[in-house]
Amino acid sequence: MLWKNNVCLVTGGASGLGAATVIKFIELGAKVIACDLPSSITTNSKQIQQQLINNNNNNKNINIDQQLLFAPVDVTSVDDVSNALNKVKEEFGKLNIVVNCAGIGVAYKTYNFNKQQAHSLQDFTRVLHVNTIGTFNVIRLACELLGANQPDANNNHERGCIINTSSVAAYDGQCGQVAYAASKGAINSMTLPLARDLSTQGIRVNTIAPGLFNTPLLSSLPDKVKAFLSKSVPFPQRLGEPSEYAQLVCNIIENPMINGEVIRIDGALRMQP
Ligand SMILES: NC(=O)c1ccc[n+]([C@@H]2O[C@H](COP(=O)([O-])OP(=O)(O)OC[C@H]3O[C@@H](n4cnc5c(N)ncnc54)[C@H](O)[C@@H]3O)[C@@H](O)[C@H]2O)c1
Repeated sequence: MLWKNNVCLVTGGASGLGAATVIKFIELGAKVIACDLPSSITTNSKQIQQQLINNNNNNKNINIDQQLLFAPVDVTSVDDVSNALNKVKEEFGKLNIVVNCAGIGVAYKTYNFNKQQAHSLQDFTRVLHVNTIGTFNVIRLACELLGANQPDANNNHERGCIINTSSVAAYDGQCGQVAYAASKGAINSMTLPLARDLSTQGIRVNTIAPGLFNTPLLSSLPDKVKAFLSKSVPFPQRLGEPSEYAQLVCNIIENPMINGEVIRIDGALRMQP
């Protein structure tokens, strides 16, 4: 695997699991377009660049200016995703890898019996719109560039690799996770038909289902809550590190037989109701 030849697009790339993936890709020598909402890019892009500098003080092999682009993208927007893909083509000439990390969650029960209030349909729709339809929107539009690659003669004639992010909530969704679990279950279910659809062009599709990871989402919780959550993980008894998610992304990319699969990364966690 010649990472320096790879061009990678990462959605949700300015925060959490996506940002860790961006950093890993850059350190391996790949070129990366990190797509995220403008607000997230504004808040986090400097920090990501600083982390790359800190991690690689003496590493002359990385060149942040030449390897990393940030693109303002709402994954649900056809125009935003198309513009980002045009930018990839313009700046880097091709695209090899797509990692879908952009995602949101809400926590509401189906019916709040105290307030006699049903789950808002708007919230349910919004979560499915970003997580499921956003993921599909990026994949369907990225196919043109992935399919235009020369098959890699050194790598089973592969043209590209797509990795999505669902969640263990797709299997053990908790109370209040009905919208989130539905959106992630749909990503799991899309994985095999996507892999089958794109197999003729040598494009693989896999999904990672993370357990509890130490991203901005969770790191803002009080230490007591984090300790409680960590204890629910059988082994290792802690939250996952975003770099461990990024490591699995790379493992999947490097192993050509992993295709059409959903892989849990959760320390054997099974969420309780
Ligand atoms: N952290 C965990 O424990 C965990 C567990 C299971 C699954 N996940 C999933 O992993 C993915 C990454 O989560 P994270 O913990 O890194 O969260 P995060 O909030 O740190 O990062 C998510 C990123 O997605 C971006 N985003 C949201 N809506 C978007 C949109 N419409 N278009 C483009 N970008 C958008 C956000 O701006 C943010 O930068 C999500 O899909 C999440 O559901 C996370």
